[in-house]
Amino acid sequence: MISQDNFIELEKKGYLERDIDPTMDLFEEIEKLKKEKNAVILAHYYQEGDIQDIADFVGDSLALAQKAANTDADIILFAGVEFMAETAKILSPQKKVLLPDLNAGCSLAESCPADEFARFKEDRPDHIVISYVNCSAEVKALTDIVCTSSNAVQIIESLPQEQKIIFGPDRNLGAYLEKKTGREMAIWDGSCMVHEIFSLEKIIHLKAENPDAQIIAHPECEAELLEHAAFIGSTAALLRYSKESSCSTFIVATESGILHQMQKEAPEKTFIPAPPNNTCACNDCPHMRLNTLEKLYNCLKYELPEMILPEELIGAAKQPIVKMLEISERLGL
Ligand code: 13P
Ligand code: SF4
Repeated sequence: MISQDNFIELEKKGYLERDIDPTMDLFEEIEKLKKEKNAVILAHYYQEGDIQDIADFVGDSLALAQKAANTDADIILFAGVEFMAETAKILSPQKKVLLPDLNAGCSLAESCPADEFARFKEDRPDHIVISYVNCSAEVKALTDIVCTSSNAVQIIESLPQEQKIIFGPDRNLGAYLEKKTGREMAIWDGSCMVHEIFSLEKIIHLKAENPDAQIIAHPECEAELLEHAAFIGSTAALLRYSKESSCSTFIVATESGILHQMQKEAPEKTFIPAPPNNTCACNDCPHMRLNTLEKLYNCLKYELPEMILPEELIGAAKQPIVKMLEISERLGL
């Protein structure tokens, strides 16, 4: 077996991908490796279509954390980004958690360095800290309750009205939650590069060209865009809404990977990705898209790269995530 450092070096040089037999059926081989190693593949809706299709479970951040906490597999291959694999490792430290590309970070998590967040918290000693799961394990360790976009409203509403709240790291989700719950919070000024790239002007133009279409949006989008949305929700909620709604055309303002699942679940409907403010495919998350089928195959074959976290960090970050899972379970989310 090769070491993690060696693996990363070989992958960076492209040697591992080059060594894959091009005639091999990657789907078949990945299935074989999964069975052989009692591994489970968990994939976020923002992964490319092939990865969603080979995964054992595809979901939003909350559902993926719930799966990671309850799986009896020996290996969790997380087809997502770093904070998701970290969360899986924190919840199941005895398991081997693999992330196909350790460079798959998150611009939102990076917009909230733990030392600066610690100072923000120190300045507000009478506040409780609620952090969106899209943050580092170090920020989670400074948090009282973690949340996702599926349960943030309910978690905030579960706190006494007079309780002061720090919310981080997403300013757009924070502003949306203030509006939804009527609570004022101290909000960290972070954001996701993918959800801030949309052009409202182009979206309004697209809507004028498709008057029957509904704009649906993730709450990580900016407030001006959210004002035009017929429905706002997490990836899982957007998927459910688009399937169940009587509307047949949607302009989808979130990462475009979700369209794969939307189209699969409602093949008769039309899904148009909301246009970004330039001509590139900027509403593809560059971090999520680092994962490829080839990397998944090598990841299972070599059982690398592995998510390794210091024990103390796991201990400090676990409680706020467990609290989120307990509240979600109690509320049937
Ligand atoms: P959800 O899957 O919870 O909607 O989160 C979206 C996201 O930005 C994940 O990176
Ligand atoms: Fe982070 Fe945004 Fe990518 Fe989600 S879509 S992983 S929030 S950069």
